[in-house]
Amino acid sequence: MSEALLVKNIGLLQTPEGKAPLRGAAQGRNRKYRNAAVLVENGVICAVTENGVLPDCPAGADVVDAGGRLVTPGLVDAHTHLVFGGWRQHEIPLKLAGAGYLDILAAGGGILSSVDATRAATEDELYEKSFGFLDELFAQGVTTVEAKSGYGLDTKNEIKQLTVIRRLRETHRADVIPTFLGAHAVPREYLGRADEYVALLCRETLPAVAWDGLAEYCDVFCEKGAFDVAQSRRVLTTALYHGMKPKLHVDEIEEIGGTALAKELRAASAEHLAVTGGAGMEALAAAGAVAVLLPGTSFYLNKGFANARGMIEHNIPVAVATDFNPGSCPSLNIGLCMTLAYLKYRMTPEEILTSVTLNAACAVGRGEVSGSVEAGKRGALVVWDAPDVETLCYRFGSNLAKTVITP
Ligand code: NIG
Ligand code: FE
Repeated sequence: MSEALLVKNIGLLQTPEGKAPLRGAAQGRNRKYRNAAVLVENGVICAVTENGVLPDCPAGADVVDAGGRLVTPGLVDAHTHLVFGGWRQHEIPLKLAGAGYLDILAAGGGILSSVDATRAATEDELYEKSFGFLDELFAQGVTTVEAKSGYGLDTKNEIKQLTVIRRLRETHRADVIPTFLGAHAVPREYLGRADEYVALLCRETLPAVAWDGLAEYCDVFCEKGAFDVAQSRRVLTTALYHGMKPKLHVDEIEEIGGTALAKELRAASAEHLAVTGGAGMEALAAAGAVAVLLPGTSFYLNKGFANARGMIEHNIPVAVATDFNPGSCPSLNIGLCMTLAYLKYRMTPEEILTSVTLNAACAVGRGEVSGSVEAGKRGALVVWDAPDVETLCYRFGSNLAKTVITP
């Protein structure tokens, strides 16, 4: 017998459409159904109706009454560092005293202190902790989550983090996408020997990750003080050889040429882009990559915000994500990121909805199955305690997700 779910009495159903990333003016086009209903059968959306018409519904279907509220696709958080030991609250006084993000890292703190705590934690401890984070995201309407490694920085501990991500994927209701970020920082034991660490990643860690099928994507922190363009290229071309698709942390603090590398390697996404200028945008537009922007990080580092309007004008598809991590953005509040996108990026509510659904889904290879409410896609929907997306972007700090539906 088939399992059916009818979501009825939807005041406004708002969704981007299609399976490919939306760019330029298309990013701001959402389909709006009034007085709508959605039928999900066996986890797949099979009908969307409007103007009070109900789909033909199998007898015995479960029914969710949306009470005239807003319904959107389940949100997608396309950039998180979900699995780590410890926290880094002790860095705030250093930041307030003027130490920069890279100063703290160079002094052995920052990412490296999270590496110590992650290495010291057991797989089970990390699993319990990050399962709780996933619950927190899910309760806010996030039904697809990308999760990066990058706090192990040796083969054993990177595999430990990715194994946790695999367990999350197998046990949580959210769809979890694993990304290998072994090139997140140069570990203490390789200090001053970044090329040797890159060689270790290529010779040992990447093949081990690939052998166990632990990652769909490979990311690199391509930044001054982390990995330069040549080192990033070496890691990502090796990852491509092993069947992982490239992503890049680029232009978070300085432009060092990472956008050109994204174009050269046809990266799936380029992420951060807080300081990307015109030439970088042209490279990204040519790359076809999704720009994953992280306004919570700009806020928390007290830095400038990415030029999202410029990217949309350059026909670059824009996604917005949390960047949840213990240093530069210890918050899982995707609604706050939507408000920052509204006020600081000056994106419209329609563009923002696309940025946290379809474009984010495309950044993690899920555009075919997630990111919009359309027949054939996964039945991941959110009923919001709000009448429209404008209200979601406006009511910052509150979680307005009322009912989160996944197959
Ligand atoms: O995306 N910039 C690199 N990585 C993370 C921060 C990680 C950390 O500080 O622990 C980011 O902001
Ligand atoms: Fe990040």
